[in-house]
Amino acid sequence: PEPNLQEIHDVLFDIALEAGDMITSANPSSVDTKKNSLTMSPSRHPASDLVTETDKAVEEFVFGHLRSKYPSYALLGEETSHTGTLTPAPTFILDPIDGTTNFVHAHPYISISLAFSLNLRPVVGVVYNPFTQQIYHAITGNGAFLTAPCIPSSKPPRPGSATANEQKKVEAHYTTTQLPLQQPLRPWGKLDTCLLAVEWGNERSGANWETKLHTFAGLAGDSTTKGKMVHSLRSLGSAALNMCAVARGDLDAYWEGGCWAWDVAAGWVVVTEAGGRVVGGNPGEWEPRVDARRYLVVRAGEEGKGQEGGLIEEVWGVMG
Ligand code: IPD
Repeated sequence: PEPNLQEIHDVLFDIALEAGDMITSANPSSVDTKKNSLTMSPSRHPASDLVTETDKAVEEFVFGHLRSKYPSYALLGEETSHTGTLTPAPTFILDPIDGTTNFVHAHPYISISLAFSLNLRPVVGVVYNPFTQQIYHAITGNGAFLTAPCIPSSKPPRPGSATANEQKKVEAHYTTTQLPLQQPLRPWGKLDTCLLAVEWGNERSGANWETKLHTFAGLAGDSTTKGKMVHSLRSLGSAALNMCAVARGDLDAYWEGGCWAWDVAAGWVVVTEAGGRVVGGNPGEWEPRVDARRYLVVRAGEEGKGQEGGLIEEVWGVMG
C-alpha cells in the first residue's frame, strides 16, 4: 500500500518530542569522535567530528520505534549508516542530534531531524529543537508549519502526548503557524542585502575545505563581489535549523559543502513547502539529490516564485 504521509508525519512528530526529552535530560559528557570519521572522508577531522552517547541512544530509540511500526521501510541514520547513500525505497532519514558540537558545548542550537523519503525525494520533514521547543514540520504539498510555545513557560505538556484533558492546556501553550512567518523586508534577489548562513562543518583540509574558504571569503569580502558582499555571514551549527530559519524568514540563504542527507532531508521539505528552494552548492546544479553533499538554500521571492533564481546565480557567481 501507498505510505500514509499524514500518519507518518504524526508519528515522526511524536517521536521527535520524546527524543527531545532524552536530549534535554542528558549530560553530553561522554564525547567521542565518530568511528566513521576517517573512513567516510580522510579530510573529516576527528577533533571536529563529534558524537556523544546521547546521539547513539536517540538513534537507537527512534529506529527501534520506527522498525516495529514500519518493518518494511529502510532506515538511514547518522550514527549507523556509514555510506550516507539513499535508495529509492521508502526510507526514514534521521540525524539524532544535528548540532552535536553545540550540544557538547551546551549551546542550545540543536535539533532532531527526521524525514521520510520516497523515490529519493524527502516528502515528510520534522525538525525539533527541544531546548526552544520549536518544531518545524511539513508534508510535501501541504505547506510548512512551526509549532512553538506561545510564551516562554516552565514545561507545558507536549502536544503529541497530551490526553484529552490536557489538550486545552496544550492549546493555551502552543501555536501552530504557517511558514514563512516574515516576508522579506528588502529588495529581493540581491546578494548585498542578504543575511546568509555558511557552516564550517567537520572537514578541515582538502578540496572541499579550500572551496569553503574561497566561497566564504567571496561572499563576505569585496574582492569577488565588487562591493556586493552579503550583509553578514552566520555559522550557527545545525544544518537542519539553518534550513528552517530560511523557511521562517530569519535567514535569506544558506550554503554548505560537506553535510549529509540526514542533515538536510527534513529541513528540505520544510523550506520547499515554505516557498523556498534547495539547489546544489555547485554552479548549475538546479535539481540536486538529497545526498548531493553541497547545497544552497534560498527563501521565497517577495512576489512569488522565480525571483530566487537571481540570488542563486549571484551566489554561484562568487564561487566561479
Ligand atoms: C553537522 C551540523 C553542522 C554542519 C555539519 C553537520 P552533526 O551535523 O549540521 O552544522 O556544518 O556539516 O555534519 O554532526 O552535528 O549531526
